[in-house]
Amino acid sequence: MSDMADPIYKTDALIAEDIDAYLETHQHKSMLRFITCGSVDDGKSTLIGRLLYDSKMIFEDQLAALEADSKRVGTQGQEIDFALLVDGLAAEREQGITIDVAYRFFTTEKRKFIVADTPGHEQYTRNMVTGASTADLAVILIDARKGVLTQTKRHSYLAHLIGIKNIVLAVNKMDLVDYSQQVFDDIVADYTAFARSIGIENFVPMPISGFKGDNITVNSPNTPWYTGPALIEHLETVEVDGTTDQAKPFRMAVQWVNRPNLDFRGFSGQVATGTIAPRDAVRVLPSGKTSTVSRIVTLDGDLDKAVAGQSVTLCFADEIDCSRGSVIATSDNPPEAADQFETTIVWMSDDALIPGRAYWLKLGTQTVSATIHAPKYEVNVNTMEHLAAKTLELNSIGVAEIATDKPVVFEPYSDNRTLGGFILVDKITNSTVAAGMLHFSLRRSQNVHWQALDISREAHASLKNQKPAVLWFTGLSGSGKSTIANMVEKKLHRMNRHTFLLDGDNVRHGLNKDLGFTEADRIENIRRVGEVAKLMADAGLIVITAFISPFRAERDMVRAMLPEGEFLEVFIDTPLAEAEKRDVKGLYKKARAGELKNFTGIDSPYEAPDVPEIRIDTTAMDPETAADAIIERLLGW
Ligand code: ADX
Repeated sequence: MSDMADPIYKTDALIAEDIDAYLETHQHKSMLRFITCGSVDDGKSTLIGRLLYDSKMIFEDQLAALEADSKRVGTQGQEIDFALLVDGLAAEREQGITIDVAYRFFTTEKRKFIVADTPGHEQYTRNMVTGASTADLAVILIDARKGVLTQTKRHSYLAHLIGIKNIVLAVNKMDLVDYSQQVFDDIVADYTAFARSIGIENFVPMPISGFKGDNITVNSPNTPWYTGPALIEHLETVEVDGTTDQAKPFRMAVQWVNRPNLDFRGFSGQVATGTIAPRDAVRVLPSGKTSTVSRIVTLDGDLDKAVAGQSVTLCFADEIDCSRGSVIATSDNPPEAADQFETTIVWMSDDALIPGRAYWLKLGTQTVSATIHAPKYEVNVNTMEHLAAKTLELNSIGVAEIATDKPVVFEPYSDNRTLGGFILVDKITNSTVAAGMLHFSLRRSQNVHWQALDISREAHASLKNQKPAVLWFTGLSGSGKSTIANMVEKKLHRMNRHTFLLDGDNVRHGLNKDLGFTEADRIENIRRVGEVAKLMADAGLIVITAFISPFRAERDMVRAMLPEGEFLEVFIDTPLAEAEKRDVKGLYKKARAGELKNFTGIDSPYEAPDVPEIRIDTTAMDPETAADAIIERLLGW
């Protein structure tokens, strides 16, 4: 490696002679993000070690140190022991069970690299998906002695699913099969057949040895029959999405509105696809308003043109509505907005998907509430078979329909990873539970419109001379919800208030007679009752509901459906022991005897409200007093 023509040597020399010039070239180098797939057995640590070693490990953090103190240049040229480096990486990987994804940075003369290194086993599918989500290229490692394995297929499927267009099939450990062309060709033929079956159109096969260094930086004399590029050479020259993204129609999600003073109003974000220039006509979605670009502002001054990947602030010629979450697009070819989609979902949480529950869906800068329907099917990631599924567990991948509470501006994931990829966030714990890809919007969502009505909810209410409200009772079975709710309604009725009481036991005989007591059925029960309560409140009524409604998430969902202040959560707080002692319907006894499954408080959870508007302790208050207290709060006395 002491050859003067060696690019590494030249880099070292440049660093030593002219650090500013070096940093300058470094800054303008393009960047490739890639992921390595395969297990440690396939030689992953050795390969990564080899890439770092052969590129002399010029890490970003070292560069930062250089920038801070150019006198430290002298440390750059130091020798690194390859064996030690690999041992270190392997040890890190073994202990790395808890590490989500390890990102490593290195650079060569031509490019900067970020490599995401994720564990290979099936239980780390979510880690691989995370690492792959930002990658432009995947290196799929195969042990030449073993050929295409289940794991190779799984990793290829995931890389393809995540939209990685550049795939390198690195047939490793060629030194252990005597650099046999036959072995290589057979593996490539095998892989080609598989790749076609899952829709991978292109891949670049390479015979390598991470351990010996064959075909890593330069072509190896041991494989004279191989005429393709060496791995680093390929990584340095492969064209990445950036170029193809620029050819697509212009789209930019607004991250924030920049308004330092009254004279300036700009919309900041990163150009997702296409190019934009002053005087271009744009359309802001979902509102559909149009204008033209007046300026493209950056910290380094105004631009004549911005392209995919650049972060800019756009100013418009007209004052039109545009805010965080809006998408700015070319006016003649804007993306769609819709509220129902077919999607592929990768479940990443220990808690399984609950169909019907509302999660936050974050797509680019847009955040909406979304409910996921029961999956159409789950994909067996080892065999690619479609399996019937009621839910999705940790690391499983399935296809499901999603409905959002507001229109989402999107493009199919296969066309645009920024506007087609999303994550789902649990509303209570705030943790990311899934990653997903939008396929297309469902026609029905485009064909069902809101009908504007002339008689508004205010008009309905004012005729009744009252303020609509929903008194949402929640509590264990036998806590006293129905008794107190009944009393509240009687009293309100006597006061000439227009009311309606929806009671669990009754609604379950009609509207919801198809529902049982599984988690999913209870969620659907509450969703329907919530919708009915909302319609009745729109009609101007004071609605009283008495359902166990055991889950916080669904109670919050109904709260969010109603105008601020109209939803009053009434927690009928009776301890389990007390409800069980009363056992008016004899159900606790049955549940304890195992004759009744999924009974709330016994073998099905009850999540008490944190801050209900009204809390009634039935061990301290009789129903009559409780009813009066509730009415007092409702009428604001
Ligand atoms: S909820 O959980 O979906 O809100 P809901 O209030 O509609 O329940 O129905 C609860 C009533 O159904 C109880 O008061 C009880 O009479 C009856 N019931 C029958 N099976 C169960 C069960 N497994 N868990 C709770 N309640 C049950």
